[in-house]
Amino acid sequence: MFDLVTTKEHDESRQGEAFAPFEKDPNTYRKRFFIESYGCAMNFSDSEIVASILNGAGFGATRDAEAADLVLLNTCSIREKAEQTVRKRLTEFKKMKRRNPGLLVGVLGCMAERLKSKLLEEEKLVDLVVGPDAYRTLPNLIEEAETGQKAVNVLLSRDETYADISPVRLDSNGVTAFVSIMRGCNNMCSFCVVPFTRGRERSRDAASIVRECRELFEQGFKEVTLLGQNVDSYYFVSDADPRPVSFAMLLVMVAEISPLLRVRFSTSHPKDITDDVLHAINSHENICRYIHLPVQSGSTRILQLMNRTYTREWYKAKVDRIREIIPDCGISSDIIAGFCTESDADHQDTLEIMSYSRYDMSYMFFYSERPGTLAHRRYEDDIPESVKKRRLQEIVALQGKLSAMSNNGDVGKVFKVLIEGDSKKSGTDWKGRNSQNKMVVFPKEHGNYAIGDYAWVKITGHTQATLIGTAIGEPLN
Ligand code: 5AD
Ligand code: SF4
Repeated sequence: MFDLVTTKEHDESRQGEAFAPFEKDPNTYRKRFFIESYGCAMNFSDSEIVASILNGAGFGATRDAEAADLVLLNTCSIREKAEQTVRKRLTEFKKMKRRNPGLLVGVLGCMAERLKSKLLEEEKLVDLVVGPDAYRTLPNLIEEAETGQKAVNVLLSRDETYADISPVRLDSNGVTAFVSIMRGCNNMCSFCVVPFTRGRERSRDAASIVRECRELFEQGFKEVTLLGQNVDSYYFVSDADPRPVSFAMLLVMVAEISPLLRVRFSTSHPKDITDDVLHAINSHENICRYIHLPVQSGSTRILQLMNRTYTREWYKAKVDRIREIIPDCGISSDIIAGFCTESDADHQDTLEIMSYSRYDMSYMFFYSERPGTLAHRRYEDDIPESVKKRRLQEIVALQGKLSAMSNNGDVGKVFKVLIEGDSKKSGTDWKGRNSQNKMVVFPKEHGNYAIGDYAWVKITGHTQATLIGTAIGEPLN
């Protein structure tokens, strides 16, 4: 209940989502695959690459696991709970496999990478274990598994970016898409399993990123989110041109495809986001004024144990700088309660930095020790669960107040909203996001709008997580 994974990175409503078959696909397939994804946006984006590779190997997608020849789970290891969810799901597939012994079951992603062939011993029904850098080998691994052998490839790569593979947008709203710009992570945050499951940082060819974004725009998409574990350390040098492309430059290159294509990005590490990036955001109206800037803790001592490489003062100065250069910028955060040795005073520091930063929203977790991480090796997970939960509850309550304050401040303002579809609650309302990444809901009756249009919306009120408004003026296409 307290592990609030309601994020865009960890979008709760998408966890365990299965892909629909490719729309208007003229091909017929000999076999069908079913893929379910967990974890961050990166994993969902990877599933689109996997779908493309499988498609090339003659597999069509199905949303019905019972109708599949191959069932894949693209998994997450970030917290213990994420792994438990997958284990539970595997027991359900066990029954399916009993009914259909020819069915192949594969585990992809971070859990595959973390546990490697141990997964085969622990989960007897698993036939394939494939890490995040080995998806190109899936067709061969499947052939191997079809002969009755267990197939494993968990090799991490220094250069794999899947740059040349066109992801299949299987379950898209046709308006917003994720584009992976880098893989891996070189930061060694002591709580985090990612450096072990996704390997070294590598940036994707800038030209291939711009090409993919342009193709998306030509297909009618209006927003791309540039994805990476640490997008601000994006750095690419091509053989043809010795001038390196920085993240700030990449943002501008993508923004210049069209003023009608919005550009977002996630995730930033506070230590790497530069003034250049902040100025780049300001330079183009279609680069969204929203930065996800995970603080993790407000205590300098805990930040040091977490190996975050900044102090609370340094982080606050970064928030000041963002507000100075981009006064209307939305800021959100990730916060961990109850990290090793955290005292009540440390916890108070976290509450204080939240108030100082005035986050529009946060993704809040209690600490979950992950095997193999620096924290697991070096520190004792010594905060009792009851204390972790109490602190998390206080963090959640404070964030509720900060979000309400932020939303109150928006009443009376007019925002440009990109319409993503019908509101969840009512078919007579549109939903979309403003530049600051806040969800805005407004009645369809004022104006003649369609999905993918931009609308000017005057905010009249809000709920906890949504702004409510009225469209003014005409659609902007
Ligand atoms: N326990 C709890 N939360 C964690 N995160 C990463 N590792 C852990 C862990 N071991 C959180 C961080 C990170 C977000 C994606 O997940 O806040 O930014
Ligand atoms: Fe994404 Fe990290 Fe989970 Fe892997 S462990 S899926 S990188 S959040």
